[in-house]
Amino acid sequence: MKKINRREFLGLGSAGLAAVALAACAPPILSPTPAGNADDGTLPPSSSQQTAPSSTPLNVAAADVEIALTALPASVPIFSGQATQVWQFQGELLKGDASALQTVPNSYLGPIIRAKKGQQINVHFRSQLPQETIVHWHGLHVSADMDGHPRYAIQENETYEYQFKLRNRAGTYWYHPHPHGLTGPQVYAGMAGFFLISDEEEQAAGLPSGEFDIPLVIQDRIFDDNNQLVYRGNGMMDQMMGFLGDQVFVNGQPDFTLSVATRPYRLRLLNGSNSRIYKLGWSDGTPFTVIGSDGGLLEKPVQRPYITLAPAERVELWVDFADRPVGSEIVLQNLPYTAPGGMMGGGMMGGAATTLALGEQYDIMTVRVERQSNERLALPKRLSTIERIPVQDATQTRSVVLAMTPPQGWTLNGRTFEMTGVAPEERVRLGSTEIWEFINAGGGGGGGMMGGGTGMLPHPIHMHGEQFQVLERQVDRNGRAAWESLSDGFVDEGWKDTVLVMPGERVKIIRRFEDFTGLFLYHCHNLEHEDMGMMRNFEIVA
Ligand code: C2O
Ligand code: CU
Ligand code: CU
Repeated sequence: MKKINRREFLGLGSAGLAAVALAACAPPILSPTPAGNADDGTLPPSSSQQTAPSSTPLNVAAADVEIALTALPASVPIFSGQATQVWQFQGELLKGDASALQTVPNSYLGPIIRAKKGQQINVHFRSQLPQETIVHWHGLHVSADMDGHPRYAIQENETYEYQFKLRNRAGTYWYHPHPHGLTGPQVYAGMAGFFLISDEEEQAAGLPSGEFDIPLVIQDRIFDDNNQLVYRGNGMMDQMMGFLGDQVFVNGQPDFTLSVATRPYRLRLLNGSNSRIYKLGWSDGTPFTVIGSDGGLLEKPVQRPYITLAPAERVELWVDFADRPVGSEIVLQNLPYTAPGGMMGGGMMGGAATTLALGEQYDIMTVRVERQSNERLALPKRLSTIERIPVQDATQTRSVVLAMTPPQGWTLNGRTFEMTGVAPEERVRLGSTEIWEFINAGGGGGGGMMGGGTGMLPHPIHMHGEQFQVLERQVDRNGRAAWESLSDGFVDEGWKDTVLVMPGERVKIIRRFEDFTGLFLYHCHNLEHEDMGMMRNFEIVA
């Protein structure tokens, strides 16, 4: 695996990337002097324990699954030698089936939560972090006060009571912190976990289960000589591009190897990286059989030569190792692609040797066939039913322009995040169906401080609340080459909550706004872009 010498990285002080330890109130990650608008500690102190302004008293809804979830500093043995200081979620199952909470051993990742559609989930969340935080259930359709909006962030030793019913269909969802301006560093420091929902339809599909159903989260990281995490998210280039590591981790481990038997597997992949986009391919060119995306199973399996996975996106694969000899290996790699704007090629990054270049080939994980198995399972022809949202149901089409707008930085329709701010065009009627078009303005805006190339970055756009369906993609001439190097890997057939919008591209999605009123977020899931303010509220009004 390609990886730079750490001293080489640490020596880049002249580029403004000198690593200095932050004060005690920041995640345990080495970081350059904060520049820009990371606003730790500047929010108004909340005087007392904050609980959800829910009208339901705590013990009315009998929980099917009840979890005590704590965010706290911890140390994890990742490499030999010194343990790594991380921030992590730790959980304790108070009620429910023992399989509902599964710790990921030797990893900074939070426990895997497994529950069923329709179940009532209660989470007693407590923070022991010296910095505000809040938990968001990515992809879940819950009420506004249960959604982990940054305005509900809690301080050290405070608690937040979550209670929600699982309305989502079966799928691979996840949870992570969402305090404004601090999501990037907190996720980077270790705070993320899977939230897997099952339902009857999924169980009837006949997919590999138990130990043959494996969630895998892909993340990039940088470590110093003392095995401590290094975060470069605050420098100007990092805010522009997003954090990029020099080493790929799977399930919290470097050089990850998955041992398998000669039989089919269900692999659930989450890109849990702050900003890195992967073009996933098998080292021997075997195509992928895709069975699911962000919002659960597709209608039927589809083939892809490779998978494009942007931050926060999930994809589920059916991988059959039956024809492979015991002892053989296959490597999941990042395949070369045209890195947007050509910036990562080396030019503007100057010391581009500090990162794994985005569009370069590198290894992600190794799969080793270790055991013979005679278990045969046929790939189902049909996986689930997906009801298409009729286009004629849409009462509105809204446009959201993604652009670099100096001096604000990355913007949505020219605006950055305001804690409770909602523009008139961000108000949506409860019960309505709408088409939203995300327009990546591309390199058109010349002249700005960053020059024309800076519009040329991809943005994985995420909407909170209900899942959506991708209707249409269009790309302009300038963006076409980069787009074509990734577009065969898009999986737009199913339900999505995050969609990659490439430079020069317009993506139309359709969704419903049902069940809950209030403020919800839509934002870029490049976490450095999000922290900079490439995030807005939309309000669902009755
Ligand atoms: Cu996964 Cu608002 O985020
Ligand atoms: Cu989300
Ligand atoms: Cu972005």
